[in-house]
Amino acid sequence: MQKYALTGTPGTGKTSVSKLLNEKVISLSNYYKKASEGKTKDGEWLVDIGKLNQILETSNSNLFEGNFAHKLDNIDKIIVLRCDPNILKKRLEERGYNKEKVMENIEAEAIGLIFSESIDYVGKNNVIQLDTSNTDVESISNIIGKYLDGKIKVEEEIDYSERILDWY
Ligand SMILES: Nc1ncnc2c1ncn2[C@@H]1O[C@H](COP(=O)(O)OP(=O)(O)O)[C@@H](O)[C@H]1O
Ligand SMILES: [Mg+2]
Repeated sequence: MQKYALTGTPGTGKTSVSKLLNEKVISLSNYYKKASEGKTKDGEWLVDIGKLNQILETSNSNLFEGNFAHKLDNIDKIIVLRCDPNILKKRLEERGYNKEKVMENIEAEAIGLIFSESIDYVGKNNVIQLDTSNTDVESISNIIGKYLDGKIKVEEEIDYSERILDWY
């Protein structure tokens, strides 16, 4: 069974998209507490990826959704959701993230951190990225479905690094 990771900076739409996919999905956030030794002072779980792997070892799911998903063992393909940092900023503010947490995340998104990490884990032939800034959740999930069925290739060029210049 092929295993897939659906990853991306918080707010890029992983959880929303995963609900529409015709795969056996696990939301990693449901296991953060179990796989963690405690919380940071911002109230985020300090997730131990080794523990998370152990917990998921016996799972019969094939798609793991969350911003650590690309770091799991035995992942064959990684789908990275992307978003224009200026749009992501609004999504994260609506979620109640404080200024510092918003900046940290939109900077990571602007430099494509998770995309490049993903390539390090499984190689560029096994990673795709999709921009969710101006495409609805349903369309994104359709594209992912076709990609996983081997019906289409996905080759999006996404570079938001210049956004950073506007902020400082
Ligand atoms: N493609 C999209 N277009 C517009 N809004 C979206 C899209 N994907 C997600 N959202 C909105 O962004 C917010 C974060 O989505 P969510 O699925 O929780 O992201 P994640 O799981 O990656 O943190 C939600 O309010 C959701 O409705
Ligand atoms: Mg989520």
